[in-house]
Amino acid sequence: MADKGNWVLTLSVCTICLLVQADIIKHAPVGQLFVHEIQREVYQNEFEPFLKHYGRIYNDPMVFKCNKLQFPDLPRWLRFTQRHPYDNGFLYGTPLPQDLGRNIIEIFVTNKRSYETFKDRLVINVEPAVKLMPYQAEFFIGLREIEKVLPLEVQEEIKQDIKIIWGTDHLNYVNITSALDCGGRVPLPLPGHYEGVYVTLGSDQPYSTCLLRLQTADHRQECEAGGKITGDCSVCSIPANCVSWCKSALINSSQPVPPPAPTVGSGILVWGGEFIPPVSPPERDFIPDYIITVIVPFVLAVLLCLILSYVMCCRREGVLQLYHHHTIRGDSSELRKMAGKRASVPQPLSTMPMFNTRTGLRAPPEYPSDSVHIPLIMAQQ
Ligand SMILES: *[C@@H]1O[C@H](CO)[C@@H](O)[C@H](O)[C@H]1NC(C)=O
Ligand SMILES: *[C@@H]1O[C@H](CO)[C@@H](O)[C@H](O)[C@H]1NC(C)=O
Repeated sequence: MADKGNWVLTLSVCTICLLVQADIIKHAPVGQLFVHEIQREVYQNEFEPFLKHYGRIYNDPMVFKCNKLQFPDLPRWLRFTQRHPYDNGFLYGTPLPQDLGRNIIEIFVTNKRSYETFKDRLVINVEPAVKLMPYQAEFFIGLREIEKVLPLEVQEEIKQDIKIIWGTDHLNYVNITSALDCGGRVPLPLPGHYEGVYVTLGSDQPYSTCLLRLQTADHRQECEAGGKITGDCSVCSIPANCVSWCKSALINSSQPVPPPAPTVGSGILVWGGEFIPPVSPPERDFIPDYIITVIVPFVLAVLLCLILSYVMCCRREGVLQLYHHHTIRGDSSELRKMAGKRASVPQPLSTMPMFNTRTGLRAPPEYPSDSVHIPLIMAQQ
């Protein structure tokens, strides 16, 4: 009875788990190594959720397939590696400034024993660079393979050694690359043979004198000769982490070297002598300016005015008609004056109000006697 109750409880808890299955969210600053370990134990629980309850834990071989959501492959800067189905997988890489933004990575887990699959989501937020690392150096570790270097503990061990070489604590990983990606050869499948790993670290602290030796011609000659290396100041607390001095190099990073911090003075201004006021500026001749800004426009305006008045008064087309009109008016008024002078002469008949053309009599018009009284509109009787 108690068993059954437990089953129901587990089932409901798992249903809730599935419903609220959250994305894994990670942050990756630009220019720094990002590593996410895909752990088999985590997914083992997803495949056999109830077996743990009974104290049985399987160790199933698993393979992972990762791709960007809705894309067939990973983003350019991100790489995936898993040596063996019994090993954990790693997503790693260094985002560049052009990779800023959110990357949703789908992880398909296949259980190679039961052939069950499970899908998980990883969200990687690529954020702007938080650390300036103008000084960078690359070291080759011959006795390692990439999957053995990516776990955080191993990264930390290697960093401890390099901190001593560099003489600073301000160290960060910039890149970790398998030698196979840099033209290395696949090693013999024998114990003690590894492909080797290149690790790049960066710092805001300048190189130590020991590291600066890597750039000298002496160092190159010694390495080419293959004899004894005098300037080797590498340190390794764990033999597997020893760096090959001849395959290490300083990298000229594209990041600018920060300017040296300003030196703080005593807080008292130094005596700079007496204040000498600046001499007044030399005299300036304003006549050319006056001519250009006042005289020239004025002369132009007068010229324009003259041209306009000439065109308006002397070159008008209507002047001739005006003259004709004037003479006609003069002539007619002269005629009228002459007519006024002959007052004794009888007026021409044509100017009289009514006259008979035959008799020459002036008489009112004759109407028929009766017709005179015929009303125009008949009165109503
Ligand atoms: C890291 O190494 C890989 C492989 O050599 C290279 O393609 C990539 O550009 C490197 N990334 C950076 C930021 O140096
Ligand atoms: C890095 O720059 C220095 C001078 O600034 C130069 O001597 C050296 O050769 C450069 N190294 C590389 C790998 O370009």
